[in-house]
Amino acid sequence: MTNTWYMGDLSKLIAKNKIWAKQKKAIDPDFFVELAKGQSPQYLWIGCSDSRVAPATLSGLDQGDIFVTRNISNLMIHTDLNSLSVLQYAIEVLKVSDIIVCGHYGCGGINAAMGVTPFGLTDNWLRNIKDVFLQHKAELYEIQDPIERANRLVELNVYKQVYNTCYTNTVQAAWVNKKNLTVHGCVFELSTGLLKKLDCSVSSIEQIDSIYKIDI
Ligand code: CO
Repeated sequence: MTNTWYMGDLSKLIAKNKIWAKQKKAIDPDFFVELAKGQSPQYLWIGCSDSRVAPATLSGLDQGDIFVTRNISNLMIHTDLNSLSVLQYAIEVLKVSDIIVCGHYGCGGINAAMGVTPFGLTDNWLRNIKDVFLQHKAELYEIQDPIERANRLVELNVYKQVYNTCYTNTVQAAWVNKKNLTVHGCVFELSTGLLKKLDCSVSSIEQIDSIYKIDI
């Protein structure tokens, strides 16, 4: 008896990978030899898990250029060991100089956080976005169009996560130790394919509120 129902089908993915590897090698025969030697990326990308917002693809960069962590709605939460570990490794071991928090318009997590539909476990994660909404509710309720309101929350959430990143002891220690490190905020627009840089870059400990400062 053959049970094939549980096997799934990766044949398209494996076939496409073969073609991709072949093309890369055709352009640069040493590409994978160099890649296997190690990584030294300039960027850490904190992005949304959304399948349409793939960092290396949309930035036109290559394998080895961007260290990445992604979760629903690009959050940097101070109790999330995954993001915090990625952040520490990126700064202290890989020595990235630029951290990009990237949100995107039309974000499902942002839309879900603005609604009341239950999503099970995910509701706990979305709570963080509801907190951002609450912080800016006067401004957000002024916006009548629901899509524009959601778009604004996408931006406000990026600002919040940029600062959450800066409040970590890892980022503060890097600045105290005179490391060249900037945290940027960006929003990706699905309908145009363009990345918009928000005016919220932070590159020194002086730019963060004193309550969050740690005497490192
Ligand atoms: Co999203």
